Amino acid sequence: MTTPAARAAELWRLIERANHAYYALDRPEISDAEYDRLFRELQALEAAHPELRTPDSPTGRIGTEPAAAFRKHRHLVPMLSLANAFNEAELGEWEERNARLVPEVRQAGYTLEVKIDGAAVSLTYADGLFVTGATRGNGVEGEDVTANLRTVLNVPLRLQGGGWPKRMEVRGEVYLSKSRFGKLNEERAHAGDPPFANPRNAAAGALRQLDPKITRSRGLRIFCFHVEAPGHKLPVATQHDLLQQLATWGFPVEHHHKLTPDLAAANREIANLEPLLEHLDYGADGVVVKVNPLDLHAELGTIGDREPRWAIARKFAPEVRITRLKEIRVNVGRTGALNPYAVLEPVEIGGVTVSTATLHNFELIAAKDILPGDLVEVTRAGEVIPQVLGRAPTAHGRPPRKHKKTFGPPKTCPVCGSRVERPKDEVMVYCPNVSCPGRILESIVHFASRGTMDIRGLGYERVRSLLEAKLIADVADLYDLKNKKLQLLALEGFAEKSVDQLLAAIEESKQRPLSTLLFALGIRHVGAEGARLLARHFGRMERLQKATAAEIGQIRGIGPAIAEAVAGFFAEPRNRKLVERLEALGLNMREPKAAPDEAGGPLAGQTYVITGTLPTLSRARASELIEAAGGHVTDGVSKKTTALVAGADAGSKLEKAKALGVPVIDEAELLRRAQAQP
Ligand code: IVH
Repeated sequence: MTTPAARAAELWRLIERANHAYYALDRPEISDAEYDRLFRELQALEAAHPELRTPDSPTGRIGTEPAAAFRKHRHLVPMLSLANAFNEAELGEWEERNARLVPEVRQAGYTLEVKIDGAAVSLTYADGLFVTGATRGNGVEGEDVTANLRTVLNVPLRLQGGGWPKRMEVRGEVYLSKSRFGKLNEERAHAGDPPFANPRNAAAGALRQLDPKITRSRGLRIFCFHVEAPGHKLPVATQHDLLQQLATWGFPVEHHHKLTPDLAAANREIANLEPLLEHLDYGADGVVVKVNPLDLHAELGTIGDREPRWAIARKFAPEVRITRLKEIRVNVGRTGALNPYAVLEPVEIGGVTVSTATLHNFELIAAKDILPGDLVEVTRAGEVIPQVLGRAPTAHGRPPRKHKKTFGPPKTCPVCGSRVERPKDEVMVYCPNVSCPGRILESIVHFASRGTMDIRGLGYERVRSLLEAKLIADVADLYDLKNKKLQLLALEGFAEKSVDQLLAAIEESKQRPLSTLLFALGIRHVGAEGARLLARHFGRMERLQKATAAEIGQIRGIGPAIAEAVAGFFAEPRNRKLVERLEALGLNMREPKAAPDEAGGPLAGQTYVITGTLPTLSRARASELIEAAGGHVTDGVSKKTTALVAGADAGSKLEKAKALGVPVIDEAELLRRAQAQP
């Protein structure tokens, strides 16, 4: 018979193998359903036998409890940055400088790697196990973001094969794919949150979330390219072999790397690589050129603690095109923000035809002195969102304006004509009218879109038609459309079959859980994640509606801005009325109970303090166990402590617990409690 330990090890191996195939090699080996089955079996096994839950278990990738702050992490070897070379001449000068120190570099060969544009991290492995992960910080000291890096699904938790140094720091770049970035910003726009400027900022932000579950939901990935193992020997002698070795150990390695015999060949390869970079699904801001033999790295050394001599980043100027600004238009967002955008003579940038681009806000338009008719420089920020950089310089400098005029914000909303408002300290101007048709259109489209109530067949055009025909005025009216089928059929673009499908989709959307409904309602700052936390905590709309901002702000992961926005939303009688109507129309106002591994758990709501030496568990393992079962671990004993877990040589905490009447339990009792079914 298989023992639980043997089965756990087997599951563990199958899951990590599947992770590696999927995330590192991009070659899935098993179906999603099969993966889920293995994962759940391992979770169940670990819940029943907590001693099997090791820190490197793949179930740890779900994300542990939020941290209060990050600990500092001192890198074994400083994390360096790279010097830049913007053309072949500068690359040549770099080789010249190196050859003066180490003449062999000219014939030693260069490894070329794509320079990933994300956030630099250092992963520490001890005996092949991932133990600590840190941000770059100031290069010498970063922040310990181990819990977050565990949720990056292609970070190997246990290495494959062998021959690794006993302790090593693997350096890599955590990034957000462009496609994931686009989706994330769509979600943020729906939630009324400001979009991330580019995938790099989004990745760096996700890495520094105090709640690992949020990090996980952002979908970060990593590429690795460097190892530091002071005092230990690496089993390879060149950078090119190191990349191969990293891949064999299970690290994801960007696959466009090349070995070239000399700088002339390197330049030819770089010219081939450059046009590919913008088509990758991850930000790539150049090519890193590295001297291939590792012993020459040691000889060349570093310039201070700043940059190595043996590597340099070959950068390319971002693609900027000049075109004519035909017109400045203003779009009214769901929150009422007036967003100016440029209508351009179509121009191709990075293989995409661009005919509109953001102008950000009216302050920038004035500061950059941009007017319709100007020639402007346009680029794609983060290679995704087109934006106007400013007026294009002309051969004779900028021609003076004949008239001193600027393009300012409209005095009235371009859709409803209300006088616009400009909150103090904000650069945005707003239409204050909550019934502004522009805002209503956006908010209904948001309500019906894929990430929210997912009412298929209800996009911009149809929502606009329904509003114009006065068949709807708000989202609740959607659920009344089934009584207006004849009027619907009379509208252009609403044929019998598609109307039936639409009505069925509207009906079906009533079942969505409270979390989805909350997100769909478009409360300012409430995105998918915030809505989920709120729904999990309160369970029912009614309870959330009654909560004060202070109570809402108590929830882990919910900041004061969200708390204020939620309380403010429900304080508004029109909003309360809307929710009442939705309930009367039969919408689900509850959140189903979460799986025990995600919320609740046998120790949910309980707080433990650990002291002394426990017979089998380390402090860290015991804490993990408590947290995995939904409990909290704190340092000090207080009246609120559920129990003190005491081992050998317990000191003052034991006395304090006794004095306060806090129960004292041993390891066996803790294990029993943590396994109990809720
Ligand atoms: S080598 C001593 N290789 O770029 C090792 N860096 O601007 C120096 N980066 O901090 C780094 N892709 O985070 C190297 N293939 C690559 C890279 C890469 C991205 C980042 C890295 C570094 C930054 C320097």
